[in-house]
Amino acid sequence: MTPNVFFTGGPEDWARYETPLRDALAAEGIAARVSPDCPDPAAVDYLVFLPGTVSDFTPFTRARAVLSLWAGVETITGNPTLTQPLARMVDDSLTEGMVEYVTGHVLRHHLGIDGFIGATRWEKAVPPLARDRRVTVLGLGELGSACATALAALRFDVAGWSRRPRRIAGITCLSGQEGLQQALERAEILVLLLPRTPETEDILNPQSIAALPPGAVVINPGRGALIDEAALLAALDDGHLGHATLDTFRTEPLPADHPFWQHPRVTVTPHIAAETRPETASRVIAANIRRAEAGAPLLYRVDRAAGY
Ligand SMILES: NC(=O)c1ccc[n+]([C@@H]2O[C@H](COP(=O)([O-])OP(=O)(O)OC[C@H]3O[C@@H](n4cnc5c(N)ncnc54)[C@H](OP(=O)(O)O)[C@@H]3O)[C@@H](O)[C@H]2O)c1
Repeated sequence: MTPNVFFTGGPEDWARYETPLRDALAAEGIAARVSPDCPDPAAVDYLVFLPGTVSDFTPFTRARAVLSLWAGVETITGNPTLTQPLARMVDDSLTEGMVEYVTGHVLRHHLGIDGFIGATRWEKAVPPLARDRRVTVLGLGELGSACATALAALRFDVAGWSRRPRRIAGITCLSGQEGLQQALERAEILVLLLPRTPETEDILNPQSIAALPPGAVVINPGRGALIDEAALLAALDDGHLGHATLDTFRTEPLPADHPFWQHPRVTVTPHIAAETRPETASRVIAANIRRAEAGAPLLYRVDRAAGY
């Protein structure tokens, strides 16, 4: 039977995805009907999902999977109408983008590049070698482990923290509350790559910020809700934190009057750390549809109980 694939995004998204998605399905040998229109939800076999579109999954009675184009799925993991299996996006391009973003911003702070931009005096400020710079990555999943590994390849002294104990070559892997404390206390540069769940919300709060060494830098391409904003601003104002480079926010786009925009110790990037790219993401979606059609388990299935 020819599966019906409903693309939930709007016209602009469809314009970017129509050709890559059709090409990827054809390459997998799947003769699917793909459309951004959905006259009969009960006839849909797969939803290719973008956040902020479908909120009631009840009418999709036949759907075998909801396939998210985003890696972060916090907007639907708690949706009680979503009973269909949910898969999130894991894609090489997404990972490469995140590795480049994190490495670039870590190197900016490690090398003190800001101090030389516009300098008019010969003042030697020699940065330590990477091997003498301690970086901590909170979250050692697809993105966190790739970033930690890339930083370790540059010889940074890298630790990472995850929910379950992990082993990654060249990384000091920590878990549990005690592990979190150790991870924070050593973090001259702290990278947040956790998903947003009830357990990770406000993980950077007055207590955890106080555990960071004086002058620590925070880089957050994870989710805005990982950070208690008032606590972050207070620590930047009193000098305990040296800088915050933020890519994700509780409200996006970040409102024009938000204090982050004007703060001298904050760099705002507009959720550009790792963009889902239609060509590669479509291949992941098509491969998952092929697997589901063949009765194989979905790749990148979300653990609804864990929330990611
Ligand atoms: N800014 C951007 O452009 C952008 C793009 C893509 C994704 N993101 C964000 O990046 C996040 C991470 O993506 P990913 O693909 O790496 O996710 P992932 O593979 O699911 O990895 C999540 C990591 O967080 C850990 N974790 C989850 N809950 C935890 C808890 N309560 N305590 C300790 N560790 C916990 C997991 O531990 P275990 O290893 O034990 O499971 C895992 O190591 C996404 O959820 C999204 O929010 C941002």
